[in-house]
Amino acid sequence: MCPAFLMCRPTYYGIHYRINPWMDLRRQANRLLALRQWHALRDVLEREFGARVCVCRARPGLPDMAFTANAGLVRGRVFVPSRFRYPERAGEEPHFARWFRRRGYAVRPLDCGRGVSAVSGASLPRAANFEGAGDALFAGDTLFAGYYFRTDVHTHAALGAALGVRVVSLQLVNPRFYHLDTCFAPLDGSAALYYPRAFDAYALRVLRENVGDLVAVSDAEAHEFGCNAVVAGRKAVIPQPCRDLARALRRRRYAVYPLPFSEFIKAGGAAKCLTLRLD
Ligand code: ARG
Repeated sequence: MCPAFLMCRPTYYGIHYRINPWMDLRRQANRLLALRQWHALRDVLEREFGARVCVCRARPGLPDMAFTANAGLVRGRVFVPSRFRYPERAGEEPHFARWFRRRGYAVRPLDCGRGVSAVSGASLPRAANFEGAGDALFAGDTLFAGYYFRTDVHTHAALGAALGVRVVSLQLVNPRFYHLDTCFAPLDGSAALYYPRAFDAYALRVLRENVGDLVAVSDAEAHEFGCNAVVAGRKAVIPQPCRDLARALRRRRYAVYPLPFSEFIKAGGAAKCLTLRLD
């Protein structure tokens, strides 16, 4: 079965605001180089992974739209759209929802009982946030879901109900690793990459209890976005250089494709963030 991904060309990409510690308005991304890096990823997915890559149209004024992992979460023909934490990205929501609706997906926004408190009947201060596949990764039928910086934990129960899957919640504690896909990547079956210092002690215990083969990524390589790998079958795209990680994956019989993502790391993302798995 050939994998399918949604990507969005970084036509209007740039560092226009600061919503995570990687972003610095004085460290602009080179858009031409970003485009080249994006195309290199797309080429490897199409040629080496044999993947189908769908591309949605970029919109001016939405520089982070290239990070399609945050559009929402796909399971079969169901699309659960994101509700972004920051208003800077909320403008992406209708564009992604339209893309999926037009292609016949059931678009199912999360119902978190938003607005009114069940206990007092009082209005809640704000709606619940969920940032899609950036914070929710399937390993088989189990959904590993991160929360705290971008996604609210009570969306996890709603996700489990909407998709009929078991959800394992993991609290993130390190602001540089604000999305689960910056510090965790399921491999085949019961293995996963992870960066231990992105999790609290309880989340580490939950990971140990739920993942048979945990591959720890070093401090240095986690900061090179090593955990932000695109994995399909026995193939993996990882950010360059991440040499130890490449070795660990090859030892597990993965074909490894290291690529540069310097321009996207300036916004706090790399390989995996630029893709959304559709199949
Ligand atoms: N600048 C973007 C943000 O902070 C980067 C998103 C990276 N995406 C991801 N799935 N980790 O929202």
